Amino acid sequence: MHKGKVLVTGGTGYIGSHTIIDLIESGYEPICVDNGCNSDPDTLEKVSMLTNKILAFYPIDLCDQTKLERIFNDHQFVGIIHFAALKAVGDSVKYPIQYFKNNLNSTLNILEMALKYGVKNLIFSSSCTVYGNAENIPVTEDTPWQEAESPYGRTKQMGEQIIKDSFKNTDHKAILLRYFNPAGAHTSGQLGEAPSTPAQNLVPVITETAIGKRNKMMVFGSDYATRDGSCIRDFIHIMDLARAHTQALDYLIEGNQISTTDVYNLGIGEGVTVLEAINAFEKVSGNQLNYEIGPRRPGDVIAIYANYEKANKNLGWSPKYGINEIMETAWEWEKNRSKVEDE
Ligand code: NAD
Ligand code: WQD
Repeated sequence: MHKGKVLVTGGTGYIGSHTIIDLIESGYEPICVDNGCNSDPDTLEKVSMLTNKILAFYPIDLCDQTKLERIFNDHQFVGIIHFAALKAVGDSVKYPIQYFKNNLNSTLNILEMALKYGVKNLIFSSSCTVYGNAENIPVTEDTPWQEAESPYGRTKQMGEQIIKDSFKNTDHKAILLRYFNPAGAHTSGQLGEAPSTPAQNLVPVITETAIGKRNKMMVFGSDYATRDGSCIRDFIHIMDLARAHTQALDYLIEGNQISTTDVYNLGIGEGVTVLEAINAFEKVSGNQLNYEIGPRRPGDVIAIYANYEKANKNLGWSPKYGINEIMETAWEWEKNRSKVEDE
């Protein structure tokens, strides 16, 4: 069944590319736009290989409204999934203007086009970063926001608010998805995280260290008030995360959402410490990781994990995978991509 065309911004990126596969498998026709500032357009060849589908792709910058509008003239969409953003927390502290310009202008342009061309359903990539150092964990969608820890975090808080205000008093609907720590790779081992900028997130740092791209890695802090002294995070498998987008889109298109905008946490609802994550990697890969305990990383939240009951109840979503599958798939992907790089 053809469920209609979906505009996927940031579609050659990590979460976008996995979601495109899930959308295709669910009967949607994704149309991809990405300027390649943090991804490789070749990703779409892998997507085609895995799905036997050729996608329409627009290699443009969403901040260029004239070019963006052409896409809306070319296609009629049932929905938009807006992933595209710059996402490196540290860079956003160094280059705040660049982050505000890119993340906010692209979102404003998407909203303007959605309203002008009557595309009624929007899914937005938000982040657990909006909660900052939350007072109570697990966090629910009602947990109050703290001051953003970085300009990146602020772009997510502002993005959420801009969407709410823009769709108010219209018949457009939006779902804001707050991801916790996405990790892992496609179960085929052929697709995974491949940023153009150096990886800073824990799981790719682990696999890059194990494969020898880095001599060693640092555990940032072991003196926190947690069960083993390292920070606690909620790692969500990329396949589970991708699925949630399709389910959220189905939910909107089926007309199930009454409010204009609604928000959902996407995590597995369990905290895993950094040392536990390393331990899981060592077990599933059979490799001993060369790591050292280092100082705390400034700005790190001590412990955070999600309550995802709302996504379960309304969207029918629940995670299938845990930290072991995250490490297994991330490691398979690392080995495969390193083979290609060596050739
Ligand atoms: P990613 O960098 O792999 O993908 C983002 C894509 O957007 C990239 O391919 C990039 O080239 C593209 N892009 C950025 N600005 C653009 C522009 N102006 N025009 C066109 N394309 C542009 O990142 P990801 O991990 O896939 O993240 C997707 C979304 O999820 C982002 O909004 C991110 O902030 C959010 N998010 C990510 C995480 C995470 O840990 N990965 C956690 C929470 C939220
Ligand atoms: C996880 C844990 C580190 C690297 C970030 C963004 C957040 C959201 C998700 C987008 C922390 C520790 C890491 C290393 C380590 N993204 N670590 N050594 O900081 O939870 O969240 O990604 O919205 O906004 O801030 O993720 O993977 O960087 O870190 O010890 O080399 O691993 O200190 O405790 P984080 P992360």
